[in-house]
Amino acid sequence: MKLILLGAPGAGKGTQAEVICQHYPIPAISTGNIIREALKSGCELGKQAKSYMDEGKLVPDELVIEIIKNRLSKEDCKNGFILDGFPRTITQAEALDRMGIDIDRVIDIEVPDETIVQRLSGRRVCESCGATYHVLYKKPAIEGVCDKCSGTLIQRKDDRPQTIEERLRVYHEQTEPLKAFYERKHILFVVEGQEDVAETSRLTLAVIEDLA
Ligand code: AP5
Ligand code: ZN
Repeated sequence: MKLILLGAPGAGKGTQAEVICQHYPIPAISTGNIIREALKSGCELGKQAKSYMDEGKLVPDELVIEIIKNRLSKEDCKNGFILDGFPRTITQAEALDRMGIDIDRVIDIEVPDETIVQRLSGRRVCESCGATYHVLYKKPAIEGVCDKCSGTLIQRKDDRPQTIEERLRVYHEQTEPLKAFYERKHILFVVEGQEDVAETSRLTLAVIEDLA
């Protein structure tokens, strides 16, 4: 099963990717997470990506395409994968086509911009394991502490108000055209993502149940 999760920043792509992984034995691949890991480890890729990410801009296509090419060549992608946050531009989508990868379905999680701002400004992530929480919608058992690994919960630098606005602008300008791109290939499926996590998961899993 080869899937793409499309949607604005904070639409719930990472949350739904985790749910799909609990039901199917395929890896979730988030370019955002890969870049954040590179940043933490201080490697060259991280250094090159930092300023773009902090400002809410997209990292250059060449860098991200290379990351995905490497990741998809790994053994665990043999039976499928979920791409979360890639492609984000038409150039990236065309690069994926050129890699000869046949995507089964593109799930577009639709959430209004006002909801996006609430979700991102309330998001907290675990500094150690990357697990995602929300101050209202997904609280940890102990405030500020990760349920999974007891790590400290922090706010992502790009979840600050000015950066959220820029990320939304970039999404509408550069990523939204991908909907028409995949609609033309007849593999675009829209999921209304403004309900709670459980309802959004139900709708998301319904889109792929016949693929298993
Ligand atoms: P990335 O890490 O991919 O960020 P993003 O797309 O902006 O997506 P997010 O991780 O912010 O949100 P999400 O949709 O996964 O939502 P989540 O499930 O966490 O990218 C960051 C940066 O990296 C980019 O700006 C760019 O610089 C660079 N980058 C990455 N990929 C790139 C690419 N391909 N090309 C170029 N640059 C790239 O949910 C959000 C919050 O809402 C959470 O708190 C969650 O608990 C809560 N929530 C989720 N669902 C619900 C629900 N149904 N109801 C209530 N709350 C919910
Ligand atoms: Zn953790």
